Amino acid sequence: MIFVTGGAGFIGSNFVLEWLAQSPEPVVNVDKLTYAGNLGNLADVAHDARLVFVQADINDTARMAALLSQHKPRAILHFAAESHVDRSVHGPGEFITTNINGTFSLLEATRAYWAHLPEADKAAFRFLHVSTDEVYGTLGPDDAPFAETNAYAPNSPYAASKAASDHLVRAYYHTYGLPVVTTNCSNNYGPYQFPEKLIPLMIANALAGKALPIYGDGQQVRDWLYVGDHCAAIRAVLADGIVGEVYNIGGWNERANLDVVHGLIELLDDLAPRADGASYKTQIATVQDRPGHDRRYAIDARKIARELGWKPVETFETGIRKTVQWYLANSDWMKDVQSGDYLKWLERNYAGRDSNVTQPGLVKAASFL
Ligand code: NAD
Ligand code: DAU
Repeated sequence: MIFVTGGAGFIGSNFVLEWLAQSPEPVVNVDKLTYAGNLGNLADVAHDARLVFVQADINDTARMAALLSQHKPRAILHFAAESHVDRSVHGPGEFITTNINGTFSLLEATRAYWAHLPEADKAAFRFLHVSTDEVYGTLGPDDAPFAETNAYAPNSPYAASKAASDHLVRAYYHTYGLPVVTTNCSNNYGPYQFPEKLIPLMIANALAGKALPIYGDGQQVRDWLYVGDHCAAIRAVLADGIVGEVYNIGGWNERANLDVVHGLIELLDDLAPRADGASYKTQIATVQDRPGHDRRYAIDARKIARELGWKPVETFETGIRKTVQWYLANSDWMKDVQSGDYLKWLERNYAGRDSNVTQPGLVKAASFL
């Protein structure tokens, strides 16, 4: 069986759902269920006997060790993390605790488990570490996309904590021979994404008649990848990735934030028009920028294409249409998610933004809530 951490979050739950649909192999899903963990994402497989859910913190080394010796996985897929850059700006502590100390604790439990496996199982074992392109820092408009050989230059507490975790994973391979592979992926979007991230936040706010908060000039560029394509890439790396190697994963879909939001608005105007006939465009508002905001990310995904034959299936246009349709069809999921900690987070993140903003077009923070 495989052992997944963070399988109740956005990417982890998409991965578990797809895994169970494509493979007979059982899954142990270990998740602390922070504000971002939602067992509702796994409702469709809740009664599948191949899925075992354990609520546990990856920082609990003894618990991780006990779970590993109980379930005897052939691989660990490590998704669990604090994942939101803005939250890391407001409070970096949890990012250090989970992303760095938590990964260390999981690596220690894994090392002890792996050391006692029979030789053949030891060789076949994999620790697949799911990481981000943000570890490489920011690009200028004409810079080449991030390759696996780029130097690390993380700029946010989130990115720094992920960079540290990547270094630990690398060290466990070089020092102890633990068979690891690391993936560094660009911005994901798709079903079950928590509405603190750009795309689901914009969809939720548009439909609720609230402002669509664009940080700064909205010209920051991200590379967007449909979550199903990311999950397929992870399966390819698990199956055929070379131990000790790093694979960058991306969609070849660079877009400025404002263009992403305009694209969403076009779809929403078409699929769920406002009752008053106006465009959702009227809800766009400029707000104070994210401190230390990275200007551009882009991924050179040629290595994984060349060596493992993976390429994204979705274009941005097909992926974003599917995504908008999913959120429109799953308004109950959104309602459930919004009833909790999310509302308190909005207050904290957006209330502080109007105090020293000078850009015209700013809407008072209260209208985001
Ligand atoms: P998410 O925030 O949606 O989910 C994280 C999950 O981890 C949640 O279910 C949460 O409960 C769990 N978790 C958090 N702390 C834990 C702990 N201490 N012990 C056990 N479980 C814990 O995150 P996501 O967007 O699904 O990202 C998953 C992984 O992919 C992360 O490692 C992230 O850095 C990486 N990543 C994300 C993106 C993206 O665009 N979302 C892109 C590249 C890489
Ligand atoms: O690049 C991979 C990373 O992508 C992952 O490692 C992170 O886990 C994931 O959260 C994501 O980070 P970003 O910071 O790029 O994603 P986010 O959705 O928070 O923001 C995307 C862009 O949109 C970014 O330039 C900030 C901007 N933005 C975001 C929000 C929430 C806005 O303009 N307004 C907003 O309200």
